[in-house]
Amino acid sequence: MTISHWQVTVPDVTFGPGSVKHTLDLLKQQGLSRPMLVTDAGVLTQPFTKALIAQLEANHFLVSTFSEIKGNPTKSNVDLGVEYLQSANSDSIIALGGGSAIDVAKAMSLVARNKKDLWLFCYFEDPDTLPQLSASDDFVPMMIIPTTAGTGSELSGSSCVITDEVRGQKRVAYHPSHFPFAVIADPELLISLPKHLSAWTGMDALTHAIEAYCAPDFNPLCDGIALEAVRLCYEHLSESVNSIDLLPGRTQMMAASSIAAVAFTSKGLGAVHSIAHALGALLDIHHGLANAVVLPYVLKFNLSVIAPKLTRLANLLALPDRTAKGFIAWIEELRQQLAIPNTLKEIHVKPEQLPHIAALAYKDTEHQTNPVTMSEANFLHILKTAF
Ligand SMILES: NC(=O)c1ccc[n+]([C@@H]2O[C@H](COP(=O)([O-])OP(=O)(O)OC[C@H]3O[C@@H](n4cnc5c(N)ncnc54)[C@H](O)[C@@H]3O)[C@@H](O)[C@H]2O)c1
Ligand SMILES: [Fe+2]
Repeated sequence: MTISHWQVTVPDVTFGPGSVKHTLDLLKQQGLSRPMLVTDAGVLTQPFTKALIAQLEANHFLVSTFSEIKGNPTKSNVDLGVEYLQSANSDSIIALGGGSAIDVAKAMSLVARNKKDLWLFCYFEDPDTLPQLSASDDFVPMMIIPTTAGTGSELSGSSCVITDEVRGQKRVAYHPSHFPFAVIADPELLISLPKHLSAWTGMDALTHAIEAYCAPDFNPLCDGIALEAVRLCYEHLSESVNSIDLLPGRTQMMAASSIAAVAFTSKGLGAVHSIAHALGALLDIHHGLANAVVLPYVLKFNLSVIAPKLTRLANLLALPDRTAKGFIAWIEELRQQLAIPNTLKEIHVKPEQLPHIAALAYKDTEHQTNPVTMSEANFLHILKTAF
């Protein structure tokens, strides 16, 4: 057996309905008083955002806001955010939003003080370019409050997925010494999320758990976390989208999403994510939707290697068909319950775009931990099947 490396670092998490009111105390504990709220235009209009700003201002915090962030966020979004942060002279960042806002907030916190180029932090592309920074002074202190249950970005350290507009590709930046000082996971903030986004983001969480579990490293610690995340999705994803009372299901999905990120941060992801990153950068397709459409096709492609693991999953969930194929059939059935399309064609991908998507997916770093070694031709094969 090769030597494996297990590292799990999780910041302080405050979890539960109503927990957003603890933001104030968590900032005070750090001696911070001039936070910049980093969010997106949609989340900015939510009543919970207005209530948070009002609570902080009533307690004499000087709150600035940056919300010029698109879905599948870009380096330009980050650069503008850093300008805002510097001109507001903020002492901290509160990331409030889905993965897009959280990732921009993380990227801002990585570079705003030390003024390094964000792309030097692409550790998985080239570990040698990682700036030698360790003091907390080098990074802007950050707390994270997710408003979607999918990316788990609140528990993936400082890792952020940002589109490089020059290369036309998504890239992952991160620094191993930088973490949020606190995470607040308040499921009440998920209630305003429209059904389709609840479904797409939930499928992102499930994809994280499955890809992390199937990643080849020997890491029973993170495998255990990934299995629990799959179970939570099995029991609650459909409920979180289709129930009349949304809070119970969305609470469980918030937990599933957060813990799945702990598993993938240590073990890695796979080819589903490489394709989703390509579809996000090139066609601006929502990340969770892209994963959801492609997931069963990649599982079938990987089947010769991962059949024992999928069989174990089918048994743990006590599926009617306790085989690897039964597990994939469950995913396909779940997608139907969530009104998620079955093909790339249905999400407006054009056949002539497939070679470019394959090339971009191959350049992406997430497939380094795919159970089957990927080539550009393998990606094109999967994409044609998924079309
Ligand atoms: N860093 C990581 O570990 C990681 C992991 C997976 C994905 N990602 C990235 O995350 C991004 C996707 O994030 P996402 O899926 O959370 O979507 P998102 O952040 O793009 O948000 C999608 C939409 O939902 C709206 N929204 C968010 N919360 C809401 C709420 N509570 N009520 C109403 N509307 C709400 C937003 O305004 C936006 O219009 C992608 O860029 C992806 O690459 C990052
Ligand atoms: Fe993801």
